[in-house]
Amino acid sequence: MIRSVFKKKVSNPILQRCANDDHTRLRKRYELWYHILNEQRGTRVSMDGKEMVMLASNEYLGLYDHPKVIEAGQKALAKWGGGTMGARSANGGRSFHAELEQRLANFLGKEACHVASAGYLSCMSSITGFAERGDVVLVDKNMHSSVWDGIRLSMADVERFSHNNPDHLRSLLEELDSATAKIIAIEGVYSMEGHIGKLPEILDIAQQYQCFTVLDDAHGIGVLGNQGRGTANYFGLTDRVDIITGSLSKSLGSTGGFVAGDEAAIEYLRTRSKQIIFSAALSPCQAACAMAALDVIETEPEWLDRLWANTKRYKALLDDLGLDTWESETPAIPIIIGDREKAYHFWKNLCDQGVFTIFATAPGVPPGKDLVRTAVSARHTNEDFEIIEKALRYAAKKM
Ligand SMILES: Cc1ncc(COP(=O)(O)O)c(C=O)c1O
Repeated sequence: MIRSVFKKKVSNPILQRCANDDHTRLRKRYELWYHILNEQRGTRVSMDGKEMVMLASNEYLGLYDHPKVIEAGQKALAKWGGGTMGARSANGGRSFHAELEQRLANFLGKEACHVASAGYLSCMSSITGFAERGDVVLVDKNMHSSVWDGIRLSMADVERFSHNNPDHLRSLLEELDSATAKIIAIEGVYSMEGHIGKLPEILDIAQQYQCFTVLDDAHGIGVLGNQGRGTANYFGLTDRVDIITGSLSKSLGSTGGFVAGDEAAIEYLRTRSKQIIFSAALSPCQAACAMAALDVIETEPEWLDRLWANTKRYKALLDDLGLDTWESETPAIPIIIGDREKAYHFWKNLCDQGVFTIFATAPGVPPGKDLVRTAVSARHTNEDFEIIEKALRYAAKKM
């Protein structure tokens, strides 16, 4: 017994894979992902004891620590506890889920909605809930990984079209059997690129070829449209999108996700999607924070105004510095550097100067598009902008 404890562990193929993984080596070499921040308040965070300006958060409206959001979360925690200890399909459903769903459905202009504990689950389920073997999912090649995972699990066939390219989508559809059930999946705002999805053209094509449409609007909600109702609202096309899915973890200052659509579609999803049936319900605190953020969005329009004023100011600064922003049209703004080493040092110089951004390299981005991903918040102040400008000038000069 004692001898077996001290015996050298025989390495199995999976352990060998873990020990020799090139991607993990790359991640560690370039300090990719998993940074630990010790504090956060407004746009300021602290890393290794150093205060920094957060310039990479998805909290576009900056509502995560709004007093009403904090108060709502605290009250929900006191009233309901930490969780509901079960799936919605079993013992986990509560009145606050139904209230939030009704609120979100009204906000998005849809009949019904289902909320889940992560945007990833919701976005996956927006495919697995509807697609099945023999169907075809046509998907923008830059779509979020949650949707790709949904496609894989659904067993449907997949056709990828070039990023934001309706002509390519049409040419793929022309080759498909008209009797096959088809789903088109796109994003409202592509989070790495900051591009707005070409919804009008794509919905015309969807109508012509009778496709079901899924719009992941994680980064459009709170940012585009009347009062931040999202990309479909921005184009005045809400009625023509079958499903709007997304996250509560961006402008809605919480964590969790949603799928919204017609009553029949949402009831079908509740019957079909395993991500929804077998996963514990959204927690009371998460639901309350998202609900309070919705209240703020509807009653304090100044946050949306500030977001776009800050976006304009930040873009002008990047243009002035001659930096390539991949034609971003939204507050999600990449700075394309191209070369991996250069991008890494650009990111590191920003860190050293007190600005937190995200470095992204292939395979996370297309080869030759190594970038530093930044995002503006409604909460960025003049003082933040001074620090950001100084840091960017420094990093650009050192490049
Ligand atoms: C486009 C998109 N869809 C879905 C998700 C998943 O949302 P969550 O982080 O809430 O799980 C994200 C999150 O990064 C996203 O950017």
